[in-house]
Amino acid sequence: MPSNYITSILKENRIFYPPKNFSKNAHIKNMREYEKLYRRSIKNPEAFWAERASQLDWFKKWKTVLRNNKGFFKWFEHGQLNAAYNCLDRNIKKNKDKTALIWEPESGKNKTYTYEQLLKEVCKFANVLKNHGIRKSHVVEIYLPMIPELPIAMLACARIGAIHSVVFGGYSSDALKDRIQDSKAELLITADGSFRNGKIYPLKDNADKAVKECQTIKKVIVVKRSSKKIKMKKGRDYWYHKLINEKHIKDFCEPESMGSEDPLFILYTSGTTGKPKGILHTQAGYLLYVYQTFKWIFDIKDKDIYFCTADIGWITGHSYIVYGPLSIAATVIIYEGSPLYPEPDRFWRIIDKYKATIFYTAPTAIRALAKEGDSWPKKCSLSSLRLLGTVGEPINPEAWLWYYKVIGKKKCPIVDTWWQTETGGILISPLPGATPLKPGSATKPFFGIEPDILKEDGSKTKTDEGGYLVVRKPWPGMLRTVWRNPGKYKKKYFDKFGVYLTGDNAKIDKDGYFWIMGRTDDVIKVAGHRIGSAEVESSLVSHKAVAEAAVVPYPHKIKGNAIYAFIVLKKGNTKSEELKETLRKHVSQHIGPIAKPEKIQFADDLPKTRSGKIMRRILKAIAQGSSEYGNIAALADPSVVQKLQKEKIR
Ligand code: PRX
Repeated sequence: MPSNYITSILKENRIFYPPKNFSKNAHIKNMREYEKLYRRSIKNPEAFWAERASQLDWFKKWKTVLRNNKGFFKWFEHGQLNAAYNCLDRNIKKNKDKTALIWEPESGKNKTYTYEQLLKEVCKFANVLKNHGIRKSHVVEIYLPMIPELPIAMLACARIGAIHSVVFGGYSSDALKDRIQDSKAELLITADGSFRNGKIYPLKDNADKAVKECQTIKKVIVVKRSSKKIKMKKGRDYWYHKLINEKHIKDFCEPESMGSEDPLFILYTSGTTGKPKGILHTQAGYLLYVYQTFKWIFDIKDKDIYFCTADIGWITGHSYIVYGPLSIAATVIIYEGSPLYPEPDRFWRIIDKYKATIFYTAPTAIRALAKEGDSWPKKCSLSSLRLLGTVGEPINPEAWLWYYKVIGKKKCPIVDTWWQTETGGILISPLPGATPLKPGSATKPFFGIEPDILKEDGSKTKTDEGGYLVVRKPWPGMLRTVWRNPGKYKKKYFDKFGVYLTGDNAKIDKDGYFWIMGRTDDVIKVAGHRIGSAEVESSLVSHKAVAEAAVVPYPHKIKGNAIYAFIVLKKGNTKSEELKETLRKHVSQHIGPIAKPEKIQFADDLPKTRSGKIMRRILKAIAQGSSEYGNIAALADPSVVQKLQKEKIR
């Protein structure tokens, strides 16, 4: 089992109990309630989920709750509903004038949408899509910054039964191209630019480059966001604002009646191979799962103002900015921009500006903001906050305690939520009114979720012993397949143990608390972003100077992990700082700035077995500053290790 440095720093033993008045008003008030319901949900998950499912609005009720079709799970078959209808129309009845979205751009000139206004915007754009030939089961690619048009476009797709595939706006044209080629989308929605740190990023230019190599894209709809001059290709490119304002575009669009297992969206994520996988989520099970987890884990109440800092281009944004919160008629703040712009108190100011009550972010952001000092949050009141959350990577106790004391003023529980793109929603997390918290632990499984930790041979680990984190039973929000690659779904997630394999390394302590310790595969979590080492390696070797590349994670104070690349140059190239910078830029252009190697070490050779396989555990140990590489006798040339160690980048 690969070790992770996080294990060594998880030593905070204190327990933090939920404040009494929080528990009193919470949906789940204490551990007795949790345990009773949890036992029931595990004994009969189908009965549990069937009971919960009546909270959604159905056009037609399901017949079977769960069916296992040769390893592909089907939930609520024969049921019919519409996700956009559940997020909008049904809320209009009670919450017509309630604010659905508060959009804070970097400039601070905000815009808000009530549920009624949002429904109209979604309907108008749904009609535009229909006018452009988009129908049920067509794929629409969305490459937008954090602007209201992003959730509007997603919900417009959902309304007419089109499948959206959102690509994070920070990705490069190559990454966009790969995703479009795999999804075979017919239409692309993008913007003329996006803002971060006061600068404009050229989204449309990237889109143009990508679309050149994507035959399936027939039309491109462009949101006007910046003053950037862009080229519009006649007959292919259309301005969003012109289309929605055309006279014949009505502000109502009948929602398509969708089968429970019809696709809702594809979201690409990095895995162990060079190409990202399209994770497919379907209608009813996904919506129910994000609705229920959002309701109980964020203990949502009618008056809450909820601020999640994730980008909608990631699963956190899909599930806990768009579908979860809107399906329960919450008020959501979305922010386009950097946490440090114009100064490192931007999040805290946004919380004060809108009196946010719930704040959900990543450990990386917490560490980066803690580093800026307490004076920034202390200038703000933050008194509206009642609950905090984290997601994306393990949180170290130091960061947890800072968050708890300086941001939450010791009165806000912290929900450390563990989950993945594939799981659709949160699987392991405290329930804020019930669960005693241990800093660094995601605590206990959600209802209906039965996680376990296994050894290589499939037997259970002992208390506190690390192993493979698996989930024994299917749950409604789980991925249904890998887009156009069902074989990969089975191989990657079910072949090893016959139950869902998460790819994480974890342990359970004596109190039944789960501690997530990092990945067991070649996925690297950099600042909470999921990066495939094979993707970075293939980008590096595509550069003309590079013969071989191997990338591994190493511990980083702010980002949790950063990327360390070992590179063997082709003959005739000189090792230089300049070339390192060129290679960093190359990866940035190829994948996106988030995948740039922080450290690059040029090597004459890499540690390989006699059959030529690179021994990554040795490189990982070197990058992490450890000399515990294990047995090196199997190497073709063991002297390589010492040489690499000597030349290590500090
Ligand atoms: O390694 C785990 C880590 O993030 C991975 C999933 O990444 P992604 O699909 O990008 O989804 C991130 C947002 C849900 C997991 O396999 N991870 C996520 N949340 C936590 C975490 N590790 C520790 N603690 C968490 N709370």
